[in-house]
Amino acid sequence: MRRRLLIVEDEKNTRDGLKWALESKPLEIDLAANGDEAWERIQRQSYDLVISDIKMPGLIDGMELLKRIKGRSPTVAVIMLTGHGSIESARDAIKMGASNYLTKPVDLDEINNEIDRCLQSQAMREENMALRQELESHYGFHNIIGSSPPMHKVFEQVRLASAAKSTVLIQGESGTGKELVAGALHYNSPRKNAPLIKINCGAVAQSLLESEIFGHEKGAFTHAFAQKPGRFELANGGSLFLDEISETTPEFQVKLLRVLQEGEFERVGGAQTIRVDVRVIAATNRNLEEEVKEGRFREDLFFRLNVIQITLPPLRRRVEDIPLLIHHFVKQVCEENGRPIIDVTPRAMAAFQNYAWPGNVREVRNVIESIIVMSRSKEIGLKDLPDRIANDTSGAQTITLQAGASLKDAERELIRLTLVSCGGNRAEAARILGIGRKTLYRKIDDYGL
Ligand SMILES: Nc1ncnc2c1ncn2[C@@H]1O[C@H](COP(=O)(O)OP(=O)(O)OP(=O)(O)O)[C@@H](O)[C@H]1O
Ligand SMILES: [Mg+2]
Repeated sequence: MRRRLLIVEDEKNTRDGLKWALESKPLEIDLAANGDEAWERIQRQSYDLVISDIKMPGLIDGMELLKRIKGRSPTVAVIMLTGHGSIESARDAIKMGASNYLTKPVDLDEINNEIDRCLQSQAMREENMALRQELESHYGFHNIIGSSPPMHKVFEQVRLASAAKSTVLIQGESGTGKELVAGALHYNSPRKNAPLIKINCGAVAQSLLESEIFGHEKGAFTHAFAQKPGRFELANGGSLFLDEISETTPEFQVKLLRVLQEGEFERVGGAQTIRVDVRVIAATNRNLEEEVKEGRFREDLFFRLNVIQITLPPLRRRVEDIPLLIHHFVKQVCEENGRPIIDVTPRAMAAFQNYAWPGNVREVRNVIESIIVMSRSKEIGLKDLPDRIANDTSGAQTITLQAGASLKDAERELIRLTLVSCGGNRAEAARILGIGRKTLYRKIDDYGL
């Protein structure tokens, strides 16, 4: 793509000379003889680069033009040209956002290099923006699939919580989307342009965790050959995602508590107190309240983390999301593999809905991926499903209840099963169950089905 350059210069010779010298570059070049003319052009046509003289006749001189360009679109690169006597202004121009200034008579190598530099940094910025947009769309709400009442509640919580700085604790079984929600919290927050730093506390040796998170000074321990900043410092201005927070030692938990309370800490082996502005998002697939009761997790830290709690429901508690997820992943995997999007037969879909998905959404994604990659069928039928799903009759036609279950448990299971067997058709389910539709809706809500 060719970029647009505007050369603003009142001396005709310099203006034409510059145009001639830059003609071999991948640029569309326009000329303006003074600031007023330039400003008119800029309002009609957007430019990537402007080269402008400082001293020019007319109402708008180079400095005024620079001010207006930067006010209109700060990403336009502006190179100033100075004759003798305007060096002072040229320095001011840099403060006002000019990329650089060159003295006249213009050295052609110099201007060529300067333009290359501006083009490169623009390309880099655009690349960064594209990457960020990709991240944002990955973590945007539209990539978290779900239309069940419990997922609606999650969306609402994420929407409200993302604006604040309060610590969030995300709980939920493995594969329910905790990391996805952490991303949505960050990328929908005012901190989205600062980093989201992640660390899995369960995957790092506990002896190293402290130095990973708080950093260390040179010589703090045997292998500390150089000073290293920790994740808290790297996340400054942004968010820190502490995954598997339950897998930490009490000593570590004390240190973490202090940062959450005071916003400050020291690097391992360091004396200097470091202050940071970081939003902490923690996640666990255990029940942290239980861990507290069992004495495995500090109660004071739990209260600090648990300012906002988002709990992701397991997939078996939101059966109506299963078809949405299946379609979503079928489309995604087919696209990734350059295959046309295939259908899922109603019987296969019923089996998917009937299965308990202990690995939750991650398991759905894995199952769909393996089916699509390993078979060439034009649709996904019962025969394509793994045995554990195709032959799972546990929930299909019968409900199993343990002695000790309450009437409510029984009712919940019966409603769930009926809904599954009618493929989610509520009117039909209400008829079979012999209750009114409104009553059924209320119960579906109450039971979080
Ligand atoms: N609601 C959802 N919509 C679309 N994709 C989802 C959803 N929930 C989870 N996923 C996908 O499922 C996979 C697992 O999600 P994620 O890693 O967020 O789970 P987790 O709760 O952090 O699991 P674990 O406790 O095992 O770390 C990811 O590929 C994620 O993109
Ligand atoms: Mg995770």
